[in-house]
Amino acid sequence: MDLKGRHFLTLLDYSKEEVEYLLDVALKMKKGELVKKLPDKTLAMLFQKSSTRTRMSFEAGMTRLGGHGMFLDIKNTQLGRGESIEDTGKTMSRYVEGIMARLNDHKDIEGIAANATVPVINALTDMYHPCQTMADMLTVLEKKGKVGGLKIVYVGDCGFNMFHSTMIGFSKLGANVVGLCPDKPEYMPKPEMLEKVRAQAKGTVSISHDPVDAVRDADVVYTDVWISMGQDEEKAKRLADFEGFQVNSKLMGHAKPDAIFMHCLPAHRGVEVAAEVIDSPCSVVFDEAENRLWAQNAILVELMGGE
Ligand code: CP
Ligand code: NVA
Repeated sequence: MDLKGRHFLTLLDYSKEEVEYLLDVALKMKKGELVKKLPDKTLAMLFQKSSTRTRMSFEAGMTRLGGHGMFLDIKNTQLGRGESIEDTGKTMSRYVEGIMARLNDHKDIEGIAANATVPVINALTDMYHPCQTMADMLTVLEKKGKVGGLKIVYVGDCGFNMFHSTMIGFSKLGANVVGLCPDKPEYMPKPEMLEKVRAQAKGTVSISHDPVDAVRDADVVYTDVWISMGQDEEKAKRLADFEGFQVNSKLMGHAKPDAIFMHCLPAHRGVEVAAEVIDSPCSVVFDEAENRLWAQNAILVELMGGE
């Protein structure tokens, strides 16, 4: 399969077969069964928001591939002083073989991609976090042996990046995805987004506001922060709205006995998840964090032409 030169902005742009191929490459590279490298290649890593895992996994990933990850904080680039997205995309492409960006507004990464002549990889925008979902699907494959047919319950803000990518990726591979959120439009996916996702889904996608009913017989319970980056002003409202939606052992008790707990991290113990869950044997959050590196290295070698 030839994915060389493609952008990676949302999993909506990738077919089921392409996603499965990338996961297979990731799994083989992790096991040491496949070696692909990117010697002398540079990945620009443009950040407008904070990061621990994304920066580290991409930068360390490029080192392992024999290339280099170049960290750029937007504040210290001319983009931070008003240079256009278009000129930035064109200029960056003259120095590097790939661009990874974590930006507030998804339109900005689309603008970079439209002007770049090298692959552009989305490392989180307001709309999507596809690299995280690739790592999540890799983790579920390792833990459960499959993704298709499983019940994945995402508890949290279903109108934002992490739920969007979770429902796109997992339903594409045939999982049945339930988004569990407060009954308010601001926490629900837009109808047009749901329509797009359902059109490509091999499994079902539904929204619930009833924690016990949603989590019943789940194979995977997933959560994310209630207050995402850039939403700090809404903190009080969100804490009040999400009351009763914490993933704790009582809620996990409604899932299957062998259910796993996932979180993209960073986590806030005592807020969206109880310590008794995230620190328990059912939690796979650090395997999931490690898998960012393996999933992304597969994406990097396939899109940037690794050999
Ligand atoms: N999960 C994730 O993207 O983590 P960081 O914000 O630390 O990069
Ligand atoms: N929804 C979170 C994900 C962090 C990895 C945020 O956007 O802050």
